[in-house]
Amino acid sequence: MNILSHEQGSATQADSLHSERVLVLDFGSQFAQLIARRVREQNVYCEIVRHDISIESIQARKPSALILSGGPSSVYEAKAPKCDPKLFSLGIPILGICYGMQLTAHAMGGSVKPCPAREFGRARLQITNMEKLFAGFPHEIDVWMSHGDQVHDLPEGFEPLAATSTCPIAAVKHRSLPIYGLQFHPEVSHTSLGSTLIHNFLYNIAGCEGRWHLSDFAQQTIQNMRERIGDDRVICGLSGGVDSSVTAALLYKAIGPQLTCILIDNGLLRKDEQSAVISEFTNHFKADLRVVDASDRFLSTLAGIRDPQEKRRRIGHAFIECFKEEAAKINGAKYLAQGTLYPDVIESGAAPDGPAATIKLHHNVGGLPEQLGFELVEPLRDLFKDEVRRLGLELGLPDHLVWRHPFPGPGLAVRCLGEITKTKLDVLREADEIVITEIKNADLYRSTSQAFVVLLESQSVGVMGDARTYENAVAVRCVNTDDFMTADWSRLPYDLLARISTRIINEVRGVNRVCYDISSKPPATIEWE
Ligand code: XMP
Repeated sequence: MNILSHEQGSATQADSLHSERVLVLDFGSQFAQLIARRVREQNVYCEIVRHDISIESIQARKPSALILSGGPSSVYEAKAPKCDPKLFSLGIPILGICYGMQLTAHAMGGSVKPCPAREFGRARLQITNMEKLFAGFPHEIDVWMSHGDQVHDLPEGFEPLAATSTCPIAAVKHRSLPIYGLQFHPEVSHTSLGSTLIHNFLYNIAGCEGRWHLSDFAQQTIQNMRERIGDDRVICGLSGGVDSSVTAALLYKAIGPQLTCILIDNGLLRKDEQSAVISEFTNHFKADLRVVDASDRFLSTLAGIRDPQEKRRRIGHAFIECFKEEAAKINGAKYLAQGTLYPDVIESGAAPDGPAATIKLHHNVGGLPEQLGFELVEPLRDLFKDEVRRLGLELGLPDHLVWRHPFPGPGLAVRCLGEITKTKLDVLREADEIVITEIKNADLYRSTSQAFVVLLESQSVGVMGDARTYENAVAVRCVNTDDFMTADWSRLPYDLLARISTRIINEVRGVNRVCYDISSKPPATIEWE
């Protein structure tokens, strides 16, 4: 049966979703999310929590293991982040990574000292003890290091498991307690067999069985939503992106006709996007889809506005107004569904014990629930993006939708520098379509994280036929990234770039120059505005 068909049958009472759970205590590592993903790849549910989480909170979550992340501090700094030292006597298996290992050693009576030289990059690890953690490993592997301090004297009861030429204590274990430490980073792909190391810790040491599966997650979430929503009605804003599509798919499966989807066409969408979303959602759903053509409204509120922040503010405001009006037409709606993901939860500091990190403000529908008096339904708030994609496939959504590049809420407005006009947007749409088509034809769409065109404000002299032209320049921007927090420009083949350039200049009226953006993030951002 197509999982997207709405069935009200009695869902089996699946095992409690997170019966097996690992907590990553975040000491400020740039890799905390990566650690959590690596754990989930081993079919074990994993959450990131604050480093100073209380013992009671830990115990309430009944974790199978704790992972202490790396971090930029030195354990001897006055303000160094610490965990409750009682944690080490709970009997819960612990893996300290980098700073996490130094902190463990320090808390248990060992000493940590600065290395002779900061070590950053690849190192060769010699393994001397192949038990449990390194079970099945060769005697030497490449590992990735990034540290200024290292453990100098082991605390009582610990023994070394591995060393590099500059780091004599690169992996440790306690002789009788389930406590382990690694000076290197098993979570990064440069460490060979890093995933096997994490697997060994989870399965050989923490006794995990791998009960976290997305299909169970889907069934359980559907069941939970049915129970929570009852006979009420839910509104879901659709953008055509993967997060809102998967949210809608889950909800449709849970409550079928009680779901109403709203697509607001703000006139800032890509070419043919409105019709693509409609056809995708009428092909795959029989859900109630309301399409609001609000392009005139958005373009008039944007007329004459050049400042990027002001553009964003006006778009956000117009979106809320439109959504409000449309929602008011839907009788009896109590809930608003949003495709919030786990990284958004962590980054907004909204997780109950999440590290208070930078707040991400650019959320298109931020403020909607409060303004409309809805209760929020966020079925994806435990998931990472790659998990949402896998879930989408599991739910039967088509490949091209599931693998679609992200598209910002303010749409083409942040790619149309200066004043926004319909003519400029049409130029962008045409050029954008060429870039995406050519990248797909080169079979590089999936390996590129985001690809698009920016219409610059500068004009330049060209020659077409025998005539002088004075027309617009566009920048092509393609990036590769795991998390969109940092990104590198994509090394597209020259002949592909040449094809893109030729096609844009020949086919898009008003453009006579194409540049390729070779800035990474940071210091640049992915979008230009
Ligand atoms: P930046 O430009 O900040 O973008 O490097 C990072 C990622 O976020 C997307 N983006 C947005 N997404 N609403 C969104 O839903 C927004 O206002 C917004 N601004 C940027 C951007 O496309 C990239 O994927």
